[in-house]
Amino acid sequence: MIKNKKTKTKSTKKSLKNKKVKKSRTAKKPQKVDLVYGLVPKKKKIIDFKRETSINFTLKLDWKVKHDPGQFMMVGIPGIGECPISICSYSDQYVELSIREVGNVTKALGNLKKGGFVFARGPFGRGYPMHYFKGNNVIIVGGGCGIAPLKGVIEYITKNRTDFKDVLLYLGYRSPDDVIFEEQLKSWEKKFCLNVSYDKAPAKSCYDGKVGFVTELIRKSKFDNKNKIVFICGPPIMMETVINILKKKKFNNDQIYISAERRMQCGGGKCGHCMIHGVYVCKDGPVFRYDELMDYKND
Ligand SMILES: Cc1cc2nc3c(=O)[nH]c(=O)nc-3n(C[C@H](O)[C@H](O)[C@H](O)COP(=O)(O)OP(=O)(O)OC[C@H]3O[C@@H](n4cnc5c(N)ncnc54)[C@H](O)[C@@H]3O)c2cc1C
Ligand code: FES
Repeated sequence: MIKNKKTKTKSTKKSLKNKKVKKSRTAKKPQKVDLVYGLVPKKKKIIDFKRETSINFTLKLDWKVKHDPGQFMMVGIPGIGECPISICSYSDQYVELSIREVGNVTKALGNLKKGGFVFARGPFGRGYPMHYFKGNNVIIVGGGCGIAPLKGVIEYITKNRTDFKDVLLYLGYRSPDDVIFEEQLKSWEKKFCLNVSYDKAPAKSCYDGKVGFVTELIRKSKFDNKNKIVFICGPPIMMETVINILKKKKFNNDQIYISAERRMQCGGGKCGHCMIHGVYVCKDGPVFRYDELMDYKND
């Protein structure tokens, strides 16, 4: 009896084992969810460090990563913090970031040198959907630090020049002392229709060039709205003024693309920190077609 029981137990165990094997062969594998995707920073070497002005610098990182113009990285230093910075280059060989020193993180990044390291995550967000604009004339309006993501657009257009018709650049700086991308301006002048403005003359100098806001350049310009797409990035007041001028020139909302800035934490649609009325600036933006965001512009 006991023997039988044992035997039975053995065979039951065996059948269970088989069942188990069978079960494990047929059961659906649980889907892998990568909870930390985009949250773990990578250590990246600085292969070039260029001081652009007293408070602006550009880092070139040894990072071969595919990205769209207008996307951004979360960049930081352990023990200090991290912040969102737009990719200002368009290359699959490296990543450039142009940064203005305004607080703890950006000042600490400004103290780094060529050969040093940053910790970065990304690329994040929706950049400029450049393939949609093939065959169009492009107008690029940038102010100060806002010229950084637009530099990525200009490099994209340079690499795909035959895809676009006329390219007009309107770039505004506070003064000639505040110019970022001075070297690039020389080459952009040869390739595109470049217009540069300075809000004011530099202090303690005999500068006698033109002085005025970039918005005035747009107001005075003769272009119409035909087959044109406009990218604007800069201080909110400048973007709003440019949009109002474009409206008077009969531009439609869907011809205008803007960049939104919000304080961010995760950078990848997980924490909700950057939300405006259900829109994640980090994931759905930072580049938006104007009509996608126009109702929330004061929020
Ligand atoms: C998508 C995106 C792309 C960006 N790209 C660039 C870039 O290419 N180059 C660059 O220099 N900066 C960029 N910024 C702004 C940059 O992230 C902030 O300047 C940075 O977070 C400041 O960090 P901090 O610790 O140095 O200063 P903090 O001490 O955190 O802030 C200093 C000052 O800047 C203000 N500030 C901080 N973060 C923001 C923000 N997100 N929007 C508006 N004001 C802010 C604060 O209110 C404060 O007045 C970008 C921001 C976003 C959201
Ligand atoms: S920054 Fe976390 S959701 Fe946008």
